[in-house]
Amino acid sequence: MRILLAASEVAPFAKTGGLADVAGALPKALAKLGHDVRVVLPRYRMVDAAKHRLRPVLDSLPVPVAGRTEIAALWQGEIGPVPVSFVQHDGYYNREALYQAKDGDYPDNAERFAFFSRAVLELSRALEWIPDVYHCNDWQTGLIPTYLRTTLQGAREFQAAGVLFTIHNLGYQGLFGPEALAAANLGNELFNPFGIEFYGKVNLLKAGMVFADLINTVSRKYSQEIQTEEFGHGLEGVLRARAKDLHGILNGIDYDEWHPGRDSFIAARFSQDDLAGKAACKADLQRAFGLPERADVPLLAVISRLASQKGMDLVAETLDAMPDLDAQFVLLGTGDAALHQAFETARARHGSRIGLMLGFDVGLSHKIEAGADMFLMPSRYEPCGLNQMYSLAYGTVPIVRATGGLEDTIQPFDPATGEGNGFKFAGTTAEALLDTLRAAVALYRRPEEWRRLMRNGMACDFSWDRSAREYEALYQQIAARRTGKP
Ligand code: ADP
Ligand code: GLC
Repeated sequence: MRILLAASEVAPFAKTGGLADVAGALPKALAKLGHDVRVVLPRYRMVDAAKHRLRPVLDSLPVPVAGRTEIAALWQGEIGPVPVSFVQHDGYYNREALYQAKDGDYPDNAERFAFFSRAVLELSRALEWIPDVYHCNDWQTGLIPTYLRTTLQGAREFQAAGVLFTIHNLGYQGLFGPEALAAANLGNELFNPFGIEFYGKVNLLKAGMVFADLINTVSRKYSQEIQTEEFGHGLEGVLRARAKDLHGILNGIDYDEWHPGRDSFIAARFSQDDLAGKAACKADLQRAFGLPERADVPLLAVISRLASQKGMDLVAETLDAMPDLDAQFVLLGTGDAALHQAFETARARHGSRIGLMLGFDVGLSHKIEAGADMFLMPSRYEPCGLNQMYSLAYGTVPIVRATGGLEDTIQPFDPATGEGNGFKFAGTTAEALLDTLRAAVALYRRPEEWRRLMRNGMACDFSWDRSAREYEALYQQIAARRTGKP
């Protein structure tokens, strides 16, 4: 089949979170299944054109937006065998960051991603490559199905094109004032609860959910959770109304990028059968964070957006216990200023036990996965989560809250049977997390059992192949609906 995957970030070109990892890896797995896959993303300043050898393919693509026509240029690169198109428009995308400046979201985000969404459709016309399915991701692409089913409803070339809309995080909805309608070249007739209106605002995630043929989220558990008030962020009703079209497909991980046996970012390679290299990675990580190089302390780690979703306030609250646990803690992350402050305060108190890197650093994230003993993910909600799976691959034991994809991927270790791949707890308090940390550190002091737990994790297989087949089944279902053929 022809599949066009549109996303606002794609690894290795531009990344702020897990969406980029998924958009960079799933297309390769689909290509392996024999599909004709293409990927489209904006050409941000962050995209290194020289490194990725981008070539110009079209210097003038007219795109209607905000009541006028803006011109996009198209560039081309690839991820392995998969062609990747970059939509260039310097006014919109040649900026410091992807979505926000220091003082908040870019004020023209609705227009920037309306332009991107419409450009995806216009470029498929211009290149005469209309896919069977547009695979759209998150609010930034929510207008692709909207245009297909409204503005472009009569366009013959799009008649058979279907849309799968993937929700990676219901907490980010692309909410804008009613003026976003004009920015998106849409009429008031869509501004109602059955359309893209949401409590007086324009909601681009909802637009995607309403107009797509099928919807999915990135784990089975999260696809159920979001139909409840607790996890629905106000959209549970819309999701329940489409329950028959709503699926859950667990993300895979890209073992080309995340594999302790061939990772070029880490100090030493290792495997299930030969864990010696992991000790070298641990020492290297302790050095990188200026912590005492001790092999015997449990080294706890976090790599995360610093946001309330991720339960980082709970982590900050447990840090005073590090001396008692005789543990070390390292964190790589960036986000809420209050959380930056909370972690800085903890470091000021326990400098020999706590290391911080408040920034974004892909190389360091690999060193942490390789060198840490335990990885903390006490998320309040987690659509899928990738780091618990990366951790498993590197023999780093995940300690997670039982929610979403964390629930689906982590089974508590049972010393009696030797089964299980991590630690899991239910509460949303620092005490609940701390109790679990105590249990984990106690097990760490029983090396034989700990090694069993590490190896159980390393034996897990979360490769994309299985998930790609599940996506394939959804694409086929969509194509059958669109063409009326079973
Ligand atoms: P989310 O997409 O909600 O942030 P995921 O667990 O799906 O969570 O994916 C996060 C991805 O972003 C992982 O690849 C993780 O390693 C990476 N990441 C998060 N914060 C940082 C950071 N500060 N530096 C480098 N990589 C980061
Ligand atoms: C989102 C979610 C995360 C998920 C990622 C990729 O950012 O927060 O749980 O793993 O998307 O699907």
